[in-house]
Amino acid sequence: MCVWHWRKCSCVFMFCVSSAEITGQRVEMDDGKSGYVGSKVDLRCRFINSSPPVKISQVTWQKLVNGSKQNVAIANPSLGVSVAPPYRDRVSFKNAAVRRRTPTLEDTTISFSSLRLSDEATYICEYTTFPAGNRENTVNLTVYVRPTTQMSLSSPTLVARSSNLKTPVATCISANGKPPGTIRWETRVPGEVTTREYKNSDGTITVQSDYILVPSKETHKETLTCVTTYNEEVYTDSVTLDIQYEPDVTVDGFDGNWYLNKENAQLSCQADANPAVSLYQWRLVNGSLPTYAEIRDNVLMFKGPVTYDLQGTYVCDATNSIGTRSGSVEVSIIEKPLPQIATGDVISVIALLLAAGVLLGITVTVLVLKIRSKKDNSSAGSPSGKMAQPIRKRTGDDIQHSGRFYEELPNTADYVSYRLACNKDDYPEPYSPPINPPLTFLPQHPYPSSQTMPSTGNNSTNTLSKNTFAPPSHTTATFKYPSVPGLAPPPPGGTYTFPKEQYV
Ligand SMILES: *[C@@H]1O[C@H](CO)[C@@H](O)[C@H](O)[C@H]1NC(C)=O
Ligand SMILES: *[C@@H]1O[C@H](CO)[C@@H](O)[C@H](O)[C@H]1NC(C)=O
Ligand SMILES: *[C@@H]1O[C@H](CO)[C@@H](O)[C@H](O)[C@H]1NC(C)=O
Repeated sequence: MCVWHWRKCSCVFMFCVSSAEITGQRVEMDDGKSGYVGSKVDLRCRFINSSPPVKISQVTWQKLVNGSKQNVAIANPSLGVSVAPPYRDRVSFKNAAVRRRTPTLEDTTISFSSLRLSDEATYICEYTTFPAGNRENTVNLTVYVRPTTQMSLSSPTLVARSSNLKTPVATCISANGKPPGTIRWETRVPGEVTTREYKNSDGTITVQSDYILVPSKETHKETLTCVTTYNEEVYTDSVTLDIQYEPDVTVDGFDGNWYLNKENAQLSCQADANPAVSLYQWRLVNGSLPTYAEIRDNVLMFKGPVTYDLQGTYVCDATNSIGTRSGSVEVSIIEKPLPQIATGDVISVIALLLAAGVLLGITVTVLVLKIRSKKDNSSAGSPSGKMAQPIRKRTGDDIQHSGRFYEELPNTADYVSYRLACNKDDYPEPYSPPINPPLTFLPQHPYPSSQTMPSTGNNSTNTLSKNTFAPPSHTTATFKYPSVPGLAPPPPGGTYTFPKEQYV
C-alpha cells in the first residue's frame, strides 16, 4: 500500500497505517527535464487518483534550494492560483482547467519560460489530499547553455624566426558552455594541441584550445579548422595561417652559356617572401657593377654584347620587413657558344678518342721497335743515310734543323693526339704545344700572353689576358705535353691548362 512513493515513505507510512483502505494515488512526473537558457520548458505533474478518488485540497510546486524548499506556484480549488513573485513573469500552469473557477487539478503541469541558469534545481510537485494526505514527486531540471565558438589567430602577425620556437598560432574557444563543448583540430600541418577548461562563476565552462607549431615558410597559408562539438551539434571554423618570413632568394638567368658578344644577357632575382620584397639590391662580390649593367627592380640587365669584363659573382640582396637575404650566381664568360651536345655526338667523340688511343699505341710500339733496330744498326757501324742522323745527334745543334728533325720525330703520335685534343676551333693557335724550336706549322710565339711577352700597351695586354683559358667556373686539368727524347724539356710554365670537358 505504501508503494506509491518512496520518498515520503516514513511520514506517509504512519498515514498509510491510519487510512489503510485508501490506496493507489500517485504523482506522475518526468524523470528529468532540460532546456537551454532562454528557452521554454514544461514541467509535467499529474495526479493519478485512486478509486474511489480522494479530494485534492491543494497543489504546491516547490524548488529545492540548498536542502530547503521555496514555493514556486500554488493551485487551490477555492483560493485559485498563485505564482511566487520571482517566477510571476515566467511560470504559469499550463492546463487552463487549473485556473477555472471550478478547477480541475489532476494536471498541474507548469510552463517555465525564459529559462535561466539559476532555474536548474530539483522541483517538487506536492498534492495535498483528503483524506489520503500528501503525495509528491520530483523532477530535476537541467539548464543548458550553448557555448559560443570563437576561433582566431593567436597573434595578428606570426613571424618565422630562425630560433624555431614553438608558438601558439591559432586559438579556438568554446565559451560559456554548460556542459562544456569539446574541441578538436583538423589540419595538414603537424602541431601540438593544448586544451584548458575554465569554470565560470555562473557554472558554465569555457574551453580554450591552442594549436602550437613552429611558424615557418612551409606553414604559410595552411588552413587550421577547429571542430567544436556540443550536445551532438558540430560547428567548424577555420583560419588560414599568415606567416611572415624573410626572402628566400635565388638568382636566375645564367645558364653557363654566356659567350662573347651574346646579347640581352640578364640576371633575375627570384625571392619567395612574405610580405613581398620591398627592395632588391645588386652587387658584385669583388668590385662594383659594370657601368653597362642596368637594374630594373629584380632584374639586372647587361646592355650591349657580353664581354669578359662582366665575369664575377653577382649577389642579389632582397629585403622585406622581416629581413634581408641574399642569393648569388657566379658568372663566367666563354668565347664561343657551347655546342648543343646530342647523345650521338658524345658517342662519336668517344669512338674517335678510342681510335686515336689505339693509333697512338700502335705508332709508339712501331717507333720504339724502329729506334731499337736503328740503334742496333748504328752500333754495327753501318750508317744508313739520313735515318741514322737524328739518333746520333741529340745535341742542341741538331734540333735547329727543324725540317729534318721533324721528318724523324719519333713521337709524331703525340702531335696527332695533341691536334685531336686541342686544335679545335675553341683553341686558338696561341695555345699550341711547346715545341722547341717552333715548327713551321705551329705559331712562332707559343706564349703570346702577357707573362711571356713584353706588354705592348694596356689595351693589348688586357685583351690577351682576357683570352687566357681559365674560366673561373670550370675545373681545370693539366695537359702536359709529352717529353720527347732528344728534345729540351718544356720551358718553365710549359704546362697548359684546359677546361676539363674540352680536354677529355
Ligand atoms: C546555496 O548554498 C551556497 C553555499 O552553500 C550559497 O553560495 C548559495 O548562494 C545558496 N543558494 C541559494 C539560492 O541560497
Ligand atoms: C536529481 O538531482 C539530485 C541532486 O542533484 C540527485 O540526487 C537525484 O538523483 C536526481 N534525480 C534524478 C531522477 O536524476
Ligand atoms: C675577391 O675577394 C676575396 C675576399 O676579399 C678575395 O679572397 C678574392 O681573391 C677576390 N677575388 C678576385 C677575383 O678579386
